[in-house]
Parts: sequence; C-alpha cells; structure tokens
Amino acid sequence: TLTLASLASLAAGIMLAGSAFAADPITIKFSHVVAENTPKGQMAEKFKELVEKSSVGDQVEVEIYPNSQLYGDDQVLEAMLLGDVQLAAPALSKFQKYTDQLQVFDLPFLFEDMAAVERFQNSATGKQLLTSLQDKGLVGLGYLHNGMKQLSASEPLRVPEDAAGKKFRIMTSDVLDAQFEAVDAAPLKKPFSEVFILLQTGAIDGQENTYSNIYSQKFYEVQPYITESNHGLLDYMVVSSARFWNGLPDDVRPVVEEALQKAIAYGNAISAQENKEAKQAIVDSGKSEIIELTPEQRQQWVDAMKPVWKEFADEIGQDVIDAAQAANK
Ligand code: LMR
Repeated sequence: TLTLASLASLAAGIMLAGSAFAADPITIKFSHVVAENTPKGQMAEKFKELVEKSSVGDQVEVEIYPNSQLYGDDQVLEAMLLGDVQLAAPALSKFQKYTDQLQVFDLPFLFEDMAAVERFQNSATGKQLLTSLQDKGLVGLGYLHNGMKQLSASEPLRVPEDAAGKKFRIMTSDVLDAQFEAVDAAPLKKPFSEVFILLQTGAIDGQENTYSNIYSQKFYEVQPYITESNHGLLDYMVVSSARFWNGLPDDVRPVVEEALQKAIAYGNAISAQENKEAKQAIVDSGKSEIIELTPEQRQQWVDAMKPVWKEFADEIGQDVIDAAQAANK
C-alpha cells in the first residue's frame, strides 16, 4: 500500500531521475579546416562514431565542423582557450605562437619518410613535445598524420631557381618562411581557406601541401604543375584545452580518450592510402602534371633549403633536431 511518505519519496525519486535525464549533454565541438575526405576529416568522423557507440554515447555529443566552417586555424586555439571549441588538430606548423619547439617538424628535408616521422613522434622527445603547450593551457592528445608535402605552381619547378621570385602561400611558420626565402621566393602566410582563390586569381603562384589537400581543395585544377618534392611534413597535433579536458567527469574522460586514440590510429593508418588515391585522382584528371625530380635536381633543393636548420637551431633546440634526425636510421 502506498503511504503519503512513500508517495512523496517516489515523487522525489522521479524528479531526481528527471533532472539527471535533463542534464545537458557534454558537447565536444571539433573544428577543422580540411575536407571530410582527408585523413583528418575521416579521423574526426571516426571519433564521433566511436563516442556515439561507447558507454558515454548518451552523455557526450560530438559536433564536427570541417572546411573552416567554424574557425580557421588562426583563431581556433584562442577559441579553444575561451571554451568555444573543445577539439582541434591544427598542423604542427601553426603552433608557433605557443611554442618554438614544434617548429622542428617544419625543417625541410628532415624526415626521410613517414616511418621516420612515426619513430620520432613515439620517441621520448616526441612524447615530450606533446606536452609543450601545457603552460599555455592546451593538452596535446596525440599526433595525427597527413603526409609529405609537394610543391604546386603555375609553372614547372625542377630546380630551386625555378621558384625564385614566385609567391608561395605558406602556413603561419617562420621556418616555412625561411625555407622559401632560401630559394629566393616570396612566401606569404595565408589561411588555408583562402588558398584556392589566391591561386585561381593568380595572386600567388604556388603553394606546398599534401596530395590529399591538393586534391580535396581542388588546387590541382588551378595549378598546372606539381613537383613531387616530399620536402617537408604536414602532420597535426590533436589538442584540447586543459580546462575542458581535465574537467571532464572521471568516468567519462577515459572513454572519450580511448575513442580519440582509436580514431587517431585509424587516421594514421589511412593517411598514406588517402594521399596515394588523391595523387592518382589528380593524374587521372589530366589537369596537373606531376613532375618527378632526378636525384641531382632533388639534391639542389636539399642544398638550398637545408641551411634553414641552422637558423632555427637555438629556437627549436639542437637536441630536439638531433633526436628527429636520429629517427631516420
Ligand atoms: C594548411 O593550412 O595548408 C594545412 O594546415 C591544412 C590542413 O589542416 O591540412
């Protein structure tokens, strides 16, 4: 039989359950600048899918904003510190405002291949670099691959002299600036979202990026030549704000973290194939010619650009550069 007291406690129980249900889900806004059919775009989708399927799927909502829809990389980290975005994965070239050390990844002709990149990222120094944003309030949650960069241009680039006097869009990195200065070109720091129109209108002559980005942003439609230089790396750091990440409830954070690590591993596993397919699609389009360098031509680019390492040795730390170079063997 129901007494008044038990009715009251039943009502209180229902109200409690009701308020637990009504609790706002935790929203993770993941803002990025690339297309969905890229390693980063796919990693973001995988993360959302894994969180939805996980034990915290009804408590955590992942919203993905690709294509600079929400923020460009120039604003995203500030937005993150203000709590407007919870997850992002800017290129390692875009953290210069926050730390000098990550510029190691921009040094031209440093990594022989992606296996070397991976060895370095997994090394003690690589892991330490993930914490290099800590005092700025950002948590480095992992490295995500895109791949090696190629040079695209309005004219064929075979030797460094071919780049002289030409305007190249670069990411916001002084190392990349020095790299193009080293071949007497004119580098311009511009947001990713503006590159296509700058190339199309001829405001700039060229840019550097992976096949994946050259394809998905349609740069190949307005750049008749792509030099397969593999001269530099385009990789990312997946970051969150310490305030948000450490503030996640203790029973939620490990589940979200596991989903994220699985998504990163997935992105890293597909990145090489994505770039290979993008290259093939560009070849098939017939719109851009892919120029392969002879070993002698490539060596000329190495000789011209490698002095940049010395210029940045103090800022980056020679020990960090040495550790990265050691990963080649
Ligand atoms: C670029 O600006 O070229 C890249 O950082 C874009 C990206 O995120 O791959």
